[in-house]
Amino acid sequence: MSEPLLEIKDLRVDFEVRDGTIHGVDGVTYTVNLGETLGVIGESGCGKSVTAKAAMQMVAKPGKITQGEILYHRRSKFDPSKPAEVVNITKLDPDGETIRTIRGGEFAMIFQEPMSSLTPVYTAGTLIGEALNLHRLIPVTVGEQMTQKIMKYRPVTKQEAREIAIEMLQKVGIPKPHERVDSYPHQLSGGQRQRVMIAIALSCQPFMLIADEPTTALDVSIEAQILDLMRELQETTDMAIMFITHNLGVVAEMSKDICVMYMGKQVEQSSTVNIFYEPKHPYTRALLQSIPKVGKRSSDRLASIKGMVPDPFHLPTGCVFHPRCPEFMPGKCDRIVPNYVEAEPGHWVRCLLYENV
Ligand SMILES: Nc1ncnc2c1ncn2[C@@H]1O[C@H](COP(=O)(O)OP(=O)(O)OP(=O)(O)O)[C@@H](O)[C@H]1O
Ligand SMILES: [Mg+2]
Repeated sequence: MSEPLLEIKDLRVDFEVRDGTIHGVDGVTYTVNLGETLGVIGESGCGKSVTAKAAMQMVAKPGKITQGEILYHRRSKFDPSKPAEVVNITKLDPDGETIRTIRGGEFAMIFQEPMSSLTPVYTAGTLIGEALNLHRLIPVTVGEQMTQKIMKYRPVTKQEAREIAIEMLQKVGIPKPHERVDSYPHQLSGGQRQRVMIAIALSCQPFMLIADEPTTALDVSIEAQILDLMRELQETTDMAIMFITHNLGVVAEMSKDICVMYMGKQVEQSSTVNIFYEPKHPYTRALLQSIPKVGKRSSDRLASIKGMVPDPFHLPTGCVFHPRCPEFMPGKCDRIVPNYVEAEPGHWVRCLLYENV
């Protein structure tokens, strides 16, 4: 039985810019369950990262959450048997203490831009150690009552932090971790920096990992190693993952369910098998046709989605995808805004092909 960890409900994030308002995220609703991975896909600019940042109350100005709820079923790290307490993240002060405890310790995010997110003046070991000091506690048995152990928790010591840092660097595939632990970010390659960031994120054993294009700067063998590490942690700690990527092969391998976004909205969501074998939305079908297939002649061109993502200030009427859609129905798709409907049990789609219009 799936247990929700994060529920995003009808979320809207607006950016007030000189020329008007951009709806970066426009009514998104999805749930990430404990121990499961939700893949989020869609072309550049469709709102994947902004949704993820909203979940951590990290939307940068001029962005603002203007509608919706983000409910976090917060559990105790020290006593998993305690019932979860529901926290509405949209109501938290973005600089307040609650969200700061959640960020890093309970939620961890691997950012899309690794170069800008590591502090240049600290070594890899210090950066991981700092995260551990703030967010990881070591259980100690202090006695026994009946058959139950009485536990207390203590912070990690400096020596332990260093050992865990080296172990994490090794797990993310950094060569010579004993030496690299003392390297500064500028002494590491781009891919190594990204792996340090992944090590920081995973060392706190978060409940929720938000991975935004986590492996784009990595070669395929390191990528496979990192994906294995995420899955291993998910199995041992029940971590939930929101996995944002352009790589459809990776998303298929990692996710239980997939959400497809276009222009700030979800256009389709279902299990990974349904999305890949029975995609319903013409946009999803077009995205899938852009994957190279074994057996296809190399002279055959890969299909690309015709046209461009529209200008956010001049959105098409009706369905925003209609000018690019191979199944465009004149008089309908350019006039009627489609609803998000459950076309089959567990398979949601926003397209007039699935509505009686
Ligand atoms: N600081 C900002 N100012 C104005 N608009 C913004 C800002 N940040 C994001 N947006 C808008 O919000 C929309 C969603 O952006 P987002 O970063 O979530 O896209 P994405 O799906 O993550 O794309 P990519 O695949 O390129 O990472 C975009 O259309 C973008 O124009
Ligand atoms: Mg992004």
